[in-house]
Amino acid sequence: DPITTPDITSNCRDLISGVNDPDNAIRTRKCCPPDIGKTVKDFVFPVEKTLRMRWPAHKGTNKQVQDYKRAIQAMRDLPDDHPHSFKSQAKIHCAYCNGGYTQVENSYPDNDIQIHNSWLFFPFHRWYLYFYERILGNLINEPEFALPFWKWDEPAGMPIPKMFLQDIHGILNPLYDVYRNCDHVLDRIVDLDYDGTDKDVSDQKQIACNLSTVYRDLIRNGGDTLSFFGGEYVAGDKPVASGAKSVGSVEAGCHTAVHAWVGAKYEPNKEDMGNFYSSGYDPLFYCHHANVDRMWKLWKDLNPSEHADPIDPDWLNASYVFYDENQDLVRVYNKDSVNLDKLKYNYIEEPEQVFPWRNARP
Ligand code: C2O
Repeated sequence: DPITTPDITSNCRDLISGVNDPDNAIRTRKCCPPDIGKTVKDFVFPVEKTLRMRWPAHKGTNKQVQDYKRAIQAMRDLPDDHPHSFKSQAKIHCAYCNGGYTQVENSYPDNDIQIHNSWLFFPFHRWYLYFYERILGNLINEPEFALPFWKWDEPAGMPIPKMFLQDIHGILNPLYDVYRNCDHVLDRIVDLDYDGTDKDVSDQKQIACNLSTVYRDLIRNGGDTLSFFGGEYVAGDKPVASGAKSVGSVEAGCHTAVHAWVGAKYEPNKEDMGNFYSSGYDPLFYCHHANVDRMWKLWKDLNPSEHADPIDPDWLNASYVFYDENQDLVRVYNKDSVNLDKLKYNYIEEPEQVFPWRNARP
């Protein structure tokens, strides 16, 4: 049977696990969403005509950047117990990754839902960003609002995008987060194969390595459906350990390396990006994940005959529950996550896109 998220408000455990030195955890370990008396209903596809076009974060127009900052600020200004607040949105990641929910209502009291390290990884994060984007758009009344993506697969996009850094004039930037590795913030090229130690290499060399790493994750290690998505994970399974062989190629590769590279190295849990429970507190998390989500799209486009979404019913029917942009509680299924046209968003690509990693065989 598929993993089926219970009602997230009435069936949530409010003290999560997976945190080192819990007394010194920087963020809250109580991750359940607010209960505003809603019952779960089924998701319906959006009906609007417009398409939200997600944009490369290092190349945003002034309007894109200002709208984005305004929306995040509006989110930060909501009271914490609002389902759309910055904190409530951050806690979603924690609840789904650090033991907030069990797999099927009352059936597997000892089995947590863990949406990492398996084939739930891509669809869960797609839905998470889908609602996050629509909530932000509503907050600033901008129906075409779209998220930026951290385009770390293109040389010019490899450093942390500038808009996420502290403002040099000391104005509080809503996109800034203090819990980052300070050695990596200014103009430093990300290391997509980061293992905890900075490599002593030139920018040119780091760029070349990164392109090979993208090639590795999308082409060499992602040759078939399960190697790309990650292994099966169904009701009754214990959460898959990170480092297991069945973790999908992008998840295990670029995705996790970027988390570790951004998180503050000396905090007890490498907050924020270095731990599941705290990742959602860094606005950069959603920007990184937009590019991870884009990798799913690029992978399918690379080889439409062989690069296919899973068709196993246990994948198709796995479901999660989110607050949508109207504060309704909705149940969403993996099977409804596969078509971007239906979800009314896409990614801006260069005209005649030539992917620089395409021939970067390691
Ligand atoms: Cu849910 Cu990048 O982690």
